[in-house]
Amino acid sequence: MKRLLLLLLSCVTTVWSVAAQPVVSQLRCEHLTDPVGMGERRPMLSWIVSDASRRGVMQQAYEVRVETNGRTVWKSGKVESSESAGIFYDGEPLVSNMRYVWKVRVWDDRGKVSAWSRPASWHTGLFEKAEWQARWIEPQQSDDRAAMFRRTFRLSKPVAEATLYITAHGIYEADINGRRVSEDLLTPGWTAYKKRLQYQAYDVTPFVAKGDNAIGVTVAKGWYLSKLTWSREFNYGDEYGLLAQIMVRYKDGTREVIATDDDWRTATGAISYGNLYDGETIDLNLRCEGWSTASFDDASWKTVRLTDTPLDNLVPSVSPAVRVIETFKPVKIFTTPSGDRVIDFGQNISGRERVRLHGKRGDTVRIYHSEILEKGEFFTRNLRTAKAVSTYILSGEGEEWVAPHFAFYGFRYIKVEGIDGELNPDDFRAEAISSATPACGTFETSDSLINRLQSNIKWGMLDNFVDIPTDCPQRDERLGWTGDAQVFFRTATFNRDVQTFFTKWMADVAAEQYDNGAVNGVYPVTHRTRISAGWGDAATIIPWQHYMAYGDRRMLERQYSSMKKWVDYITSKTENDLWRKESSYGDWVFFSYSDDLDGRSAVTIRPFIQQCFYAHSLDLVVRTAQLLGAAEDETKYKALYKRAVDAFRNEYVTPNGMLVSDTQTAYTLALMFDLLPEEQRAGAAKRLVENVNRYGHITTGFLGTPYICEVLTRFGYADVAYKLLLNKKIPSWLYPISMGATTIWERWNSMLPNGMVNSNSMVSFNHYAYGAIGDWLYRWAAGLQEAAPGFRKIRVKPYLNDHFTSMKAEERTPYGLASSAWTLDGDAVTLTVEIPANTTAEVYVPSASAECVTESGRALAACDDLTSEGWNDGYTLVRLGSGRYEFKSTLK
Ligand code: BGC
Repeated sequence: MKRLLLLLLSCVTTVWSVAAQPVVSQLRCEHLTDPVGMGERRPMLSWIVSDASRRGVMQQAYEVRVETNGRTVWKSGKVESSESAGIFYDGEPLVSNMRYVWKVRVWDDRGKVSAWSRPASWHTGLFEKAEWQARWIEPQQSDDRAAMFRRTFRLSKPVAEATLYITAHGIYEADINGRRVSEDLLTPGWTAYKKRLQYQAYDVTPFVAKGDNAIGVTVAKGWYLSKLTWSREFNYGDEYGLLAQIMVRYKDGTREVIATDDDWRTATGAISYGNLYDGETIDLNLRCEGWSTASFDDASWKTVRLTDTPLDNLVPSVSPAVRVIETFKPVKIFTTPSGDRVIDFGQNISGRERVRLHGKRGDTVRIYHSEILEKGEFFTRNLRTAKAVSTYILSGEGEEWVAPHFAFYGFRYIKVEGIDGELNPDDFRAEAISSATPACGTFETSDSLINRLQSNIKWGMLDNFVDIPTDCPQRDERLGWTGDAQVFFRTATFNRDVQTFFTKWMADVAAEQYDNGAVNGVYPVTHRTRISAGWGDAATIIPWQHYMAYGDRRMLERQYSSMKKWVDYITSKTENDLWRKESSYGDWVFFSYSDDLDGRSAVTIRPFIQQCFYAHSLDLVVRTAQLLGAAEDETKYKALYKRAVDAFRNEYVTPNGMLVSDTQTAYTLALMFDLLPEEQRAGAAKRLVENVNRYGHITTGFLGTPYICEVLTRFGYADVAYKLLLNKKIPSWLYPISMGATTIWERWNSMLPNGMVNSNSMVSFNHYAYGAIGDWLYRWAAGLQEAAPGFRKIRVKPYLNDHFTSMKAEERTPYGLASSAWTLDGDAVTLTVEIPANTTAEVYVPSASAECVTESGRALAACDDLTSEGWNDGYTLVRLGSGRYEFKSTLK
């Protein structure tokens, strides 16, 4: 009994002392959890510190230990540093293809030490080209059928570890001993293949064993072999290719490599498709059962061709691959007025159907895909030349589930052909695919329409972040348009952790930037587009905003020369410091009238827009030069910046502060980028408000949309921003919702109020650019902002509006969860704030005075765990450290 009591007592003390200590968790290497195939020789490590038992927790020191195979390769020792999101490995040189296990502990500001973290790991990729024993193999066939490659191999001893390194010309699926190696889809992903082809690395230890084994890889056309773009004039090559090696370490320490070589065999099987846009055909009669097992007889298979294709373009994958992220069931099955049998899955997605089929041998089932119904009819005109159809030829061997392997579609509805009798909802699923970026933010309000808008923004993003940021997932396009990505970038960072997703894509932008510095409209480059303001500026804006969101300055270091090249290109095109001549895209899909006799369309002249972005990009290059300590550059670009701004003011601003284009986009850009002299800014903001009131709605296109509400709010017109947000009439964010939208549309009027689809050929229902309002929702409406790069310092300053009774934004920052939530009941405000350990925050509590503010029931003056800095312009400023705080105040 006594022993039991003692035990209990010691448990209680342990729990108590654990609770009062800092805790380290979420260890990441290169921003990923336990990456395999990690390609950095000095990887960046990060972790999250927490201690819910008290406020104001800061890390004072850390200690990291790294070992491999039980041998320690780095002991950092106790390092006095508050850095927890950017520690570089500094131990023995890392060796290729090796698993490293690491752990960390920290000391907090009171000198308390945490327990060692749970161990995390990284597995290095292949640092040297010479470590590739594999050679490219080709199937000696190039028709529409996917190529299958296989090889058996004997492992002579018990296996300690096996890693598969693999890539393809085309997209591949790999099986070992009859099992799919990974759930990743569309690998190796889409990059600027000629310069950068990703390989993946998978731990396949559980897949192999001493004795006979087999690997089978299917390679389909994907981005490499498909003819891309609407003109179908571009592809990378005409031959499938596979490069793979399994690197085995036996338990006795010896090693063996099974690589693509002339021992591999090839054949074609069930899968074919002509093109990424057109869809996949599966002839179930042509399947080769058991083809990736050792016992399969491949006597009839052909030999492969070995090629000398160089391996210089190989790069490790740095970001999460595409996966199925959610599965939808039918919400409705119906027959259209013209007799089509259609299934509605309730959500517009990128993905594929999964269907349970049963029928006679040779029966053909076709599944067509569509985003929208027009007057109740299945609508596919907006797919343009993309056929977007899955075809299944049945084997008659009982029922089975089938789905395309290598095709994806943008759809909410499917049309089913070739199935007799009633369609059973249990036989159909829709699988949404997306790059598996971790979810990191939520935004919620008391208004269900705004919540739907947030959901549409999120889905618009998920559907288009399919390995690269695409413009749309459905029609014969699906390209990495720079402008779209640029305008949406900040919104993206709030909803998903897109840090590595953009590290990858920006590397392609830099790799394929033209020699003269011009930045194309699409990356990877499929065709030369217009060189455009707002599009090319993805080269400067995304790296800078990426740094602000995540705080990892390597993004800027890597992209710096690309950033400079872009502004140098523009400078070379200027006359008298004005960037005038260029056939740019302007304020793409701005509001216009089809019959505009009296000139009311919101046209912002293109040279004006170009000058705004030229100056803004110069400004970002100056800031980057400053940060990177490039003093000469800083001086040079500062001078150019000043000249660009002066030229802008002389050319496009009247002495009274009117802009040559009297549009919402014009005022928004000039104010957002601080291009007007101080004394003209308030007047310009007023003109912007007058413009909004004149139209009674938003008129901005891609370039003005992300900023208009921010500019209005910054200049004291949050109420006008809310008016735009809450407008339900066309054009507005909520109009599509009133028409049943589940994603963001390409145009304000992709569908007209009469239920007809806009007659233009360019009309998608899944373009995320207008969803760029999401940034304002998080940062201004709910008020959760970074006040220093990577949220090391946080600003909470919400803008309340009495249309709402509550609003909440939550964000997993590099330091942990931060949130801002407000409720409004008449004049009574509650602001609940959560600030992660190892950061500080300035919180602006909406209030009529500092005196009316309380925190957890205490007057501010009585709170020694925060500093109150007095009241100004509707807010009481409070400075504080980590913890959860509940402020109450009143607005009158
Ligand atoms: C794409 C856009 C893109 C534009 C360039 C369109 O076809 O869908 O989103 O930015 O071309 O102006």
